[in-house]
Parts: sequence; C-alpha cells; structure tokens
Amino acid sequence: MRPFASRCFHSNRITYKLKIRAFSGTTAFMRALILSDIHANLEALAAVLAAAGAYDQLWNLGDVVGYGGSPNQVIEVIRPLSHLVVRGNHDRVCCGVASALGFNPVARAAALWTQQELTPQNLEWLKALEQGPIAPNRVLADHLNVTCVHGSPLNEDQYILSMRDAWAPLQQMTTDLTFFGHTHVQGGFALSGSEWREIRPAYDSRNEAESWTINMEPGSRHLINPGSVGQPRDYDWRAAFAMYDSNTAQMIYHRVPYDLIASQGRILMAGLPERLAARLREGR
Ligand SMILES: [Fe+2]
Repeated sequence: MRPFASRCFHSNRITYKLKIRAFSGTTAFMRALILSDIHANLEALAAVLAAAGAYDQLWNLGDVVGYGGSPNQVIEVIRPLSHLVVRGNHDRVCCGVASALGFNPVARAAALWTQQELTPQNLEWLKALEQGPIAPNRVLADHLNVTCVHGSPLNEDQYILSMRDAWAPLQQMTTDLTFFGHTHVQGGFALSGSEWREIRPAYDSRNEAESWTINMEPGSRHLINPGSVGQPRDYDWRAAFAMYDSNTAQMIYHRVPYDLIASQGRILMAGLPERLAARLREGR
C-alpha cells in the first residue's frame, strides 16, 4: 500500500494534507475503486475485488442488496471495505425504510425475501445508509472535486440513461466529477465547453477480463457510471467496476467474468424468481 494511504497514523486532516504535499508535490495522488449495484451477488463481488488490485479508497454507490441470493454475505464483505456508501432504492426497500409497492413483482419478491433473510445487524446497517449526494471529501480527500450518488445528483431515484437525462445534472452538479449508478449501464456522459459526449466502453471480448481507459481533460465535467457489479444490464454479463486515478485524471473501466452458475444457483436455491437467475447470463 502506498504511504499516503495509511489513514491510521494521520490523526487529523491537517497532518494528512501535509503528508500528501510532502509525498507528491502539489498534486494529491489517489486511486478510488468505484462499485455500484452489487445486488447481493457474492460471486461477482469476489471476482471484482480480486481483479481490482491496489486502491486507496472504495466508494460504494448503493443497491448493495436486492435481486441476488447472498445479501448477508455481501454486506459482511463490503461493509468493512467501503469508505463511503450511498443508499440505493433497493437498500431502502429491503430494510423497510421505503415501501415495495413501487417495485415490479419480481423486484418486490426479491426485496421481501431479502428483508426476511437479513440479520438484525445488517438490517440496521442498511437503515442507516445516507442519501446521496455524498462527497468523498468528508471521509478523506478534501482535495477531490468529486461527488457520489445513486441515481442522479438532483434526485436519488432518477435514471440517467441518455444525454437528455444527463443534461441538467451535468450543468447543475456541484463538482466536476460525479459517480452514479442505478441504471446498471457502464459508461457516462461528459461536458467540455459546449461539447457533449456519451461515454461507452468498447471491449474486444465477451468472456475475458478487460479494461478501457479514458483521460478526463481539465475543466471538463463528467458523470461516470462504473456499471453494476451484480446485475449488469448493458448486454454484457461480466461484473462491472471502475477505478479512478486522481493523479493521472484517468478513469479505468473494467469487466471481469465471475462464477455465474454459482450465483444463479443461490438465487434458485433461495426460491427467488427464475428470471433473476436467467437475466444474469443475458446481462440485461
Ligand atoms: Fe440497482
């Protein structure tokens, strides 16, 4: 682990900032692992953590549970690793903070099963999750111009699927970079001067571990979706995640295969709707 990543020996923020400057000059250096929509898929999460390599912070954009067959196991793995967690709509419903009435029958069945399945400790953890936007500054990096949300910086339940959806958030968000999830579609949107563009990673294979990198220009604004760890809906079954390097201003998108059969088996063994197992292979 890099020297600046050892949070434990920095007793306050002033000390921390001095250490950063001493280590890297005027630019703070940080790698953040961005995960979203794990959806109780333990096998996908294990593959992502194994593939991610070294990082300094893990930012979790919510929907930790719902749909998948391993809610307690996933919370127990991700809880101690997450430096920041934004609540997702499934997190709210699965712990009873919000009603399942707005969900379709399959999502509702999974949410109700999850609520029965969760331990009291894990239920309490979910109930305490905060609504986005959350700035990582609060937990460590006050030099980063970054916000984390579940749906949109303007509304936690809004889906940003198109440039039309992204237009208002890109202009109104309070930081130049916002990480969002909720759509289960890896990619994002960028605004540079008067130029807009959609970001969609292009991969060579369908079954191998792969990465795809973009450079973020100074002065540009980005909405970045790392994709879904546990239930991708962009026609790619592989688990999705992203790594943000604040020193090089690079975003590295990743896809990684995982033990799909085992994950599907847990869904079926739990008695959850078969559609939830089938869609994992389809990536939709
Ligand atoms: Fe989700």
